[in-house]
Amino acid sequence: MKDVIIACDFSSSAEVLAFLDKFAACERKPFVKIGMELFYGAGPEIVRAIKARGHRIFLDLKLHDIPNTVRKTMKVLSALDVDMTNVHASGTIEMMKAALEGLTRPDGTRPLLIAVTQLTSTSEERMRSDLLIDAPIGEVIAHYASNAREAGLDGVVCSPLEASIVKERCGSDFLAVTPGIRFADSAADDQVRITTPARAREIGSDFIVVGRPVTAAADPVAAYQRCVKEFLEQ
Ligand code: C5P
Repeated sequence: MKDVIIACDFSSSAEVLAFLDKFAACERKPFVKIGMELFYGAGPEIVRAIKARGHRIFLDLKLHDIPNTVRKTMKVLSALDVDMTNVHASGTIEMMKAALEGLTRPDGTRPLLIAVTQLTSTSEERMRSDLLIDAPIGEVIAHYASNAREAGLDGVVCSPLEASIVKERCGSDFLAVTPGIRFADSAADDQVRITTPARAREIGSDFIVVGRPVTAAADPVAAYQRCVKEFLEQ
């Protein structure tokens, strides 16, 4: 189940397809993340095109709306045949249950569904001042993760440094999907709470989401293979 997901944060189909062309000769087709920028810019057709090339897809649209709207939207996304998608846990347990219902196909199969707890860009201070949430951020993340588990979801997106809190509260089979990954010798960019692929494995991440260390590398295929080696093989 464990895998490395490349965050394909490009704004056009041409850019992302040219990037994925580099992996054409690779035996292992990377699992790719399509975010809002690419999906809203290029439309659902880009999901079909990447899927047709044999990649697994995490569609990172972070849905957050009334349960009925989320249920119906998830039905549409499920028909796109993605492998993983997500919602905000702050949409409530009822909304997460509706998402799961919408995502489940008539034959009972469905993509993995994970929840965003608190965005890594939200500090404890901001949570207090802007959202009036007074609890420590670790407790909020653990609580949102247990709500996601109660709703029947498969896991959460969290910082790798929070993966152990999530596993403690929700069990080792509850997935931790973790961005904020950097090689020991590469730049942090704008990420703050970061760790290496090898350390993420030790902490208990199930999927690491890696963007710029691969997409902006001089040799993206070599960088991807290094991630795979550090996260899955060492
Ligand atoms: O380039 P980089 O490795 O920082 O990309 C990380 C990816 O993970 C980006 O697509 C970013 O939007 C996403 N992400 C994140 N932190 C979160 C949730 C998603 O960095 N809490």
